[in-house]
Amino acid sequence: MCGIVGYTGYREAYPILIKGLHRLEYRGYDSAGTAIYDDKSRELNIYKAKGKVSDLEKAAMGHNHCGSLGIAHTRWATHGHPNETNAHPHVSETGQLTIVHNGIIENYIILRDQLKDKGYHFKSETDTEVLVQLIQYVMDSHNTDLVTSVRLALEKVIGAYAILVVDTKNPDTLVAARKSSPMVIGIGENNCEFFIASDASPIIEYTNRMVYLEDEQIAVCHRGEALQIIALDNSEVAVNVKKVNLDLSMLDKGGYPHFMLKEIHDQPQCIRDCMRGRIVQDGKRIVLSAVTEHREELLKAKRIIIVSCGTSWHAGLIGKLLIEQFCRIPVEVAYASEFRYSDPVIDSNDIVIAISQSGETADTLAAIQLASEHGALIFGIVNVVGSSIARASDTGTYIHVGPEIGVASTKAFTGQVTVLTMIALAVGRERGTVSEEKYSSLINELLTIPELMEKVLAQDEKIKLIAQQYATSHNMLYLGRAYNYPVALEGALKLKEISYIHAEGYPAAEMKHGPIALVDENMPVVFIATHHKLYEKILSNMQEVIARKGKVLAIVTEGDETIKGMAENIIEVPQVDNSLAPLLTVLPLQMLAYHVAVAKGLDVDQPRNLAKSVTVE
Ligand code: AGP
Repeated sequence: MCGIVGYTGYREAYPILIKGLHRLEYRGYDSAGTAIYDDKSRELNIYKAKGKVSDLEKAAMGHNHCGSLGIAHTRWATHGHPNETNAHPHVSETGQLTIVHNGIIENYIILRDQLKDKGYHFKSETDTEVLVQLIQYVMDSHNTDLVTSVRLALEKVIGAYAILVVDTKNPDTLVAARKSSPMVIGIGENNCEFFIASDASPIIEYTNRMVYLEDEQIAVCHRGEALQIIALDNSEVAVNVKKVNLDLSMLDKGGYPHFMLKEIHDQPQCIRDCMRGRIVQDGKRIVLSAVTEHREELLKAKRIIIVSCGTSWHAGLIGKLLIEQFCRIPVEVAYASEFRYSDPVIDSNDIVIAISQSGETADTLAAIQLASEHGALIFGIVNVVGSSIARASDTGTYIHVGPEIGVASTKAFTGQVTVLTMIALAVGRERGTVSEEKYSSLINELLTIPELMEKVLAQDEKIKLIAQQYATSHNMLYLGRAYNYPVALEGALKLKEISYIHAEGYPAAEMKHGPIALVDENMPVVFIATHHKLYEKILSNMQEVIARKGKVLAIVTEGDETIKGMAENIIEVPQVDNSLAPLLTVLPLQMLAYHVAVAKGLDVDQPRNLAKSVTVE
């Protein structure tokens, strides 16, 4: 996600802004920029660069960046490729207003078309430029001041935003506003200066007096005057100043000891972001531009091939179950590394789905290049906007979960599964292979998943205690059936890659065909045994393991009294439709792997031998 820093006061703004952007680098980004108002020359000097903050510093070096009012931004691309044109800050056509923005304006295309009809022109592909032009339009057409113009413009906006806006005709005031994206305001002594940022890390070294802006609030930072906050309905809001004492080293990770734990706990918000703007009409319809655009190909598709690696391959296995259940289209899931060299049979009517968090995995990229040469339609499910796989795809759906820093993939997995669920339901509805009733009930249930995730994640302390029992294990088995079989594979991979304990995932019924020979009192076995039509059968599998002294940890449906009497440890998850179960059953396994690795004193975020993105064969 993007990072924002702003300053108005008596000091030089530039060093504060640059240092603040460095503090926000952990959020991940692909370009950066600053805008600083020089009181002497009465100019707003803007510098932008694709790449790192250090590239921005090179761009500004030797040029005028004097001034004590400024805004700055690190961009994680959501609309428009990562380049200098799309980097923030963005300026209104008249040059009067400048903005930085973190979030997604869902209705930006409609707003842009309306502004184009009024003669406005656009330089970038971003939703942010639409917003600053809209504020300028409101200001010019209503003859209003900056605060009122921002407020009236935001009334027309659907989506998430944290913005800072500067008016060169009124350079003593910085206006901030937020909805669904974070914004913190630090207050200097005697209101002589204000520091604004996406979180406290760029602010804490200057002041510990902070105000956390709430949704649909607008703040007016006028140096020398008390902070003023109004609501979108123009009502005054009391300013609630908090004394914030934070350890900077923890701040980069949002207060968590590791990025992985932060990203595990970010998943409810990430899934909300992933669904944002895609489940519309008050939760009645799934609208995905890629599905709309390629409706004909999807209607006539006779086969879908999913190519991916690692965790993304596990998501692909769930995608197979979803698409076959709801679309009745045969799906093959291939390891990209195998697919690319197997001289595969690919038909021009095939649809090939590439799943990749980084969008840079060499094998997956090569696989879709091969498929594309055979005329298949390439559909990318990617997290990083503008990445190689995204650009090599004919179409696709970004998962919008924000940068994933921890090498072990967590929020990307649930984001991928969420997108696959939306695709399967949207295509199934178009093909008439999913009933309206099922379609509606699953959408309603999907919308509750973030809240249900929070219930599961609240068991973190309990899982931490359970994990201590496994820290000395040398092997573990993970067993599941149907939708929970890929979850078993994913849980095993999480444990392997960060705790270095050998773990294998299996279909639970497969145990009888050899692996049960491994089971004895030294073999912990994790069962994912939530309620569904195969529940009784997985109970039998569990009894076979217990009969051989296997130690069972079971992930069960809330209220399950049967397994409570059988397993050493149980972790409960809320009841959901079987097709949505992976979004919940994977969470305890992510937390289990994390706490086992921490108990072993290992480097959770940077496990040995691994890279976040495997860009080589
Ligand atoms: C998962 O925790 C691993 N980091 C790894 O298996 C990863 O999923 C795999 O390398 C694929 O990466 P991608 O999703 O970026 O293509």
